[in-house]
Amino acid sequence: MLMHHLTVPPIPTAPPAIAQAPRLHVAIISDGNGRWATSRGLPRSAGHRAGAEAARRVIEAAPRFGIRTLTLFALSSANWKRPAAEIQAIMRLLHEYLLTETTQCITEGVRLSIIGRRDRLPDTLRQTIVDSEAATAKGARLHLRLAVDYSAREAIYHAACRFYKVTELSPESFSNVLAEVHRGGSTEVDLLIRTGGEQRLSDFLLWECAFAEFVFLQKRWPEFTAADLDAAVKEFSRRERTRGALPDAIAE
Ligand code: IPE
Ligand code: MG
Repeated sequence: MLMHHLTVPPIPTAPPAIAQAPRLHVAIISDGNGRWATSRGLPRSAGHRAGAEAARRVIEAAPRFGIRTLTLFALSSANWKRPAAEIQAIMRLLHEYLLTETTQCITEGVRLSIIGRRDRLPDTLRQTIVDSEAATAKGARLHLRLAVDYSAREAIYHAACRFYKVTELSPESFSNVLAEVHRGGSTEVDLLIRTGGEQRLSDFLLWECAFAEFVFLQKRWPEFTAADLDAAVKEFSRRERTRGALPDAIAE
């Protein structure tokens, strides 16, 4: 048994420090739109509109902080439990965003992908998604992934079903199948930010967050600024990421 343990291959060397090679994947659970609106005597839909503005600010600022992939949780599959009018308002905002921002995305080198189920979206929105993805496909500065009607469990389940057809079975090939299910790819999350005070993952990127760092903020999403994103990335860069190995100082 002991001999067996000794033959385990060495742990791969740590990736270069973030400060030298910032190519981060930041995922955001943008929570608190409804409470932001209600506390101001506004309808919840006004909170979602203000949330879309916050998303615009963050998307624009992200590349400056070394972020190369940004995944925003726009609509969870669990949100279907909400009143139809609220879901429709969110769908309308998303459609509006795609129609008005696609040109801007092309100019700014933003590649847009939508991850999540598409079969429950309105036909017109589905078509706009396909058009926006095609139009922005060459963007190399930022990969913006909007999670819409998204459930990580469901994505993993579908990937597992497809996995039977893959000849070479390994964690890597499973990741590749999951990336196909996502369409917008699947990459490890470095930093997960959740606004709105709750501290949970809510069925978001379960596989990809295996080694993510978490930052939870009380602030509601419509109040989130580029400075908050900067502060979260700085907090992330102060954390020691060992991925189960020993910290450098002890391992030497
Ligand atoms: C997050 O804000 C946005 C979406 C889920 C679309 P909420 O709508 O969950 O806002 P709260 O949590 O009710 O304040
Ligand atoms: Mg919420």
